[in-house]
Amino acid sequence: MKKTIFSGIQPSGSVTLGNYIGAMKQFVDLQHDYNGYFCIVDQHAITVPQDRLELRKNIRNLAALYLAVGLDPEKATLFIQSEVPAHAQAGWMLQCVAYIGELERMTQFKDKSKGKEAVVSGLLTYPPLMAGDILLYGTDLVPVGEDQKQHLELTRNLAERFNKKYNDIFTIPEVKIPESGARIMSLADPLKKMSKSDPNQKAYITLLDEPKQLEKKIKSAVTDSEGIVKYDKENKPGVSNLLTIYSILGNTSIEDLEAKYEGKGYGEFKSDLAEVVIGALTPIQERYRELIESDELDRILDEGAARANKTAGKMVKKMENAMGLGRKRGLSRKVCKLF
Ligand code: TYM
Repeated sequence: MKKTIFSGIQPSGSVTLGNYIGAMKQFVDLQHDYNGYFCIVDQHAITVPQDRLELRKNIRNLAALYLAVGLDPEKATLFIQSEVPAHAQAGWMLQCVAYIGELERMTQFKDKSKGKEAVVSGLLTYPPLMAGDILLYGTDLVPVGEDQKQHLELTRNLAERFNKKYNDIFTIPEVKIPESGARIMSLADPLKKMSKSDPNQKAYITLLDEPKQLEKKIKSAVTDSEGIVKYDKENKPGVSNLLTIYSILGNTSIEDLEAKYEGKGYGEFKSDLAEVVIGALTPIQERYRELIESDELDRILDEGAARANKTAGKMVKKMENAMGLGRKRGLSRKVCKLF
């Protein structure tokens, strides 16, 4: 039997090249060999303020992009988290297994709550919801970028704790981080992760940027004054980041790229990179435009939600039984008293 993979992306803005290289590209490669569940995690997105109309738009955009990058709904299940109530149910049960201390140690919580006067509790309890997402499907493998590693470790801890304390029902998932491109950096500050929430739009590339914008962003990417195209993450973080992007989207090794641009300046390197990025994103954008207003997209999401509800609903029942919630079905009240 095929093993299961699960992963999710927040619809909290535009989908970046970091999301694509760190996560989506892995999904597309893995979908052939695994039973895949790919989720639009809208309930995670509301842990920070959202405009409701923008959120709705971003959910649909992300769904269309999942398909446009090459996910095949015949092979994988694509769905929206809030359309599968088991996620919130599992999230709550796992909140009752997680300790406040371990949630406060999550670096993402620390970063997002830093300097804020009022922090919603959902920001703290986000990781048990994420653990629920994963554990509901008996997931074996979770393909993500490097920034999610800590959340995955917590997921494994929560699953082990639940199995020990209540009943051994969860598969302990492994994390899968790509060898290259696990952390695509900002184009404006290559010491920071490329992020859709960056206030500087030049810092990130989105999958829907127009060719002109792409060219402009790449040409203005921060490098250094050395003029040597060489991979050296410590001393040349900007150039190294661009080399990583080039090598992944251009299907070329970094060594070959270093040789190709030996003795040439950054101008030619950046122009060629812009061409490679435009070449990779154009077919995705074309497919996205075909899908975004289509009924096909709704049909795929309806089917995905139905399939996900079926699998996740069964696991929620198992969790409730393990914890003793509700009534034990199929037994008379008299017998139930014995339990
Ligand atoms: P999110 O929405 O921030 O990011 C989605 C995926 O993109 C990866 N990623 C990156 N990879 C490389 N370089 C970057 N600059 C970069 N930025 C983002 C992330 O690592 C992630 O894989 N908590 C998750 C969403 C989530 C989830 C889940 C993931 C909710 N439930 C269950 C896996 C399984 C998040 O905020 O991802």
